[in-house]
Amino acid sequence: MSAARHPSRVAETPVLPERGPGPVKVTLTVNSTEHALEIEPRVSLLDALRERLHLTGAKKGCDQGTCGACTVWVDQRRTLSCLTLAITCEGREVTTVGGLAEDGEPHPINNLPLTRIEDRPDGGLYIGALARMSDVAEAPMVRERFPLVREALVLGAFAQLRNMAGTGGNMVQRTRCASFRDAASPRNKREPGSGCGALDGFNRGHAVLGVSDHCIATHPSDVAVPLTTLDARVHTEGPRGRRVYALDDFFPEPGDTPHLEHPIEHGELVVGIEVPGMPAARTSLCLKVRDRESYEFALASVAAVVPMNDGVIGDVRPALGDVATTPWRARRAEKIPRGAPAGREVFERAAREELLPARTTPLNAFKVELARRTMVRALEDLL
Ligand SMILES: Cc1cc2nc3c(=O)[nH]c(=O)nc-3n(C[C@H](O)[C@H](O)[C@H](O)COP(=O)(O)OP(=O)(O)OC[C@H]3O[C@@H](n4cnc5c(N)ncnc54)[C@H](O)[C@@H]3O)c2cc1C
Ligand code: SF4
Ligand code: FES
Repeated sequence: MSAARHPSRVAETPVLPERGPGPVKVTLTVNSTEHALEIEPRVSLLDALRERLHLTGAKKGCDQGTCGACTVWVDQRRTLSCLTLAITCEGREVTTVGGLAEDGEPHPINNLPLTRIEDRPDGGLYIGALARMSDVAEAPMVRERFPLVREALVLGAFAQLRNMAGTGGNMVQRTRCASFRDAASPRNKREPGSGCGALDGFNRGHAVLGVSDHCIATHPSDVAVPLTTLDARVHTEGPRGRRVYALDDFFPEPGDTPHLEHPIEHGELVVGIEVPGMPAARTSLCLKVRDRESYEFALASVAAVVPMNDGVIGDVRPALGDVATTPWRARRAEKIPRGAPAGREVFERAAREELLPARTTPLNAFKVELARRTMVRALEDLL
């Protein structure tokens, strides 16, 4: 295994004649328009865009190169604007998300009537694909009947994003694998047959379950994890009419076709997510473990429902997130506690069983123990 490397994430810095430290004249070309600025050389591209040019498409999330909220293109190369000095972008073309919009208008999908969150007769829900993550999290029926869905949403991303992002978009978002996003790396998921740069690369956050020799990218959607626990189904509409997919079919493991991330075809749109009624889900939770609390993706998460009857466990349903190539329904773990007296010992056995097929790299091997402990804690917290 070669030494781990992190793909370039900051604009290459040209050698510059010394200027400053006081304000200097800088000309920036942003979204094909030239802007003359007077700024100190220490000002980041992100601050220049947001504070001086009032172009707020690039967000300030972590301000330290972790979250990706500030991403722009510099000469068509993905660049973290919080880690890039504005002065180094002179003579280069900066493109923000605003520069990608046609005529400055959001995509027409945003005008479709797909924002409703509806009750179903069986006590379940139907969530429109464009229902905002924050609206779903705050809906009374979600809070009362499906706390694990609410918690997964609230623990995901950050408030500005949750206020804008749709639930359908969250489900089909593409992987966060850094090699996938680095134009110079091999990445089977984007270019089939090109190889997988993450296998020998920086793969600390990558999957240990459901992996193949062709792809080890972690599934990115937080909310898909409780939805798999709940047997949710994805509704789509497209050239061949309406279709309904079980989540197992909607999120296939990568195998030797990692580029096929879900079965929807060109022109097919996710229109909603159906969540069947499950009374036991009133007592449920989602637990997410990450290096730090904010602006950080999880290393392991668990969504779980544990029905109890007189101290005996019913149909326990844990699912794992951030450790697998799909939202991972823990079917091996489901079998063990059924009918057993509730307690740590039986949960430990279930979690160990689930993680037996784990396949690790030196950088992500710690996730096996982390996922095991997270599952045990989540199940114990529900007792
Ligand atoms: C800094 C940062 C941190 C994040 N942290 C988290 C996190 O902690 N947890 C998490 O789960 N996610 C996280 N995300 C991902 C984020 O939640 C998703 O990018 C977002 O939910 C996508 O929703 P959207 O409505 O903006 O979709 P878009 O970005 O508009 O679309 C995403 C993709 O889905 C397609 N698409 C959108 N809607 C549909 C539809 N109805 N049918 C078919 N295809 C569709 C689009 O064409 C596009 O390819 C993070 C993202 C960022 C930038
Ligand atoms: S094949 Fe998968 S794990 Fe490998 S680089 Fe591409 S997305 Fe990442
Ligand atoms: S704000 Fe730049 S990476 Fe988070």
